[in-house]
Amino acid sequence: MTTERTFSIIKPDAVAAKQTGAIIQMILDAGLTVKAMKMIRLTRPQAEGFYAVHKERPFFKDLVEYMISGPVVVSCLEGDNAIIRYRELMGATDPAKAAEGTIRKKFGKSIEANACHGSDGPDTAKVEMSYFFSSLEIVGE
Ligand code: PPS
Repeated sequence: MTTERTFSIIKPDAVAAKQTGAIIQMILDAGLTVKAMKMIRLTRPQAEGFYAVHKERPFFKDLVEYMISGPVVVSCLEGDNAIIRYRELMGATDPAKAAEGTIRKKFGKSIEANACHGSDGPDTAKVEMSYFFSSLEIVGE
């Protein structure tokens, strides 16, 4: 097993619905550790930059509008195989297809308002963590 870090966003729909605490509890119950966390309101350029990889996709504009619609909670999570484990805990992108017991099954409202984001690999995790956190803000660095 490899100790890894991954990056998480609790998205505007879940923050607005007061589900932040319950989602953090699911993360902790899954054995992941929070190394950094803060609530922020993304600006349009920040959201466009974060999702730049999707800029040619038809939903890009809607995704950016949604992600700037309210506060989000960003965090760095750590644990054995944290990247895949957090992806499994989140469930499928579309909450309608997410497995029982996952965050998106429990709290996702639609393919857009799907409660959470998690990095899809080690390289992405590094880029995404450094997009939002300096090393001074991460416990243990
Ligand atoms: S993923 O997570 O990259 O495997 O999934 P993907 O399907 O490629 O989606 C990438 C991100 O885009 C969001 N998404 C959408 N937003 C709005 N409308 C539609 N139709 C839509 N489809 C996908 C999806 O939630 C992913 O967001 P993140 O924050 O990366 O999880």
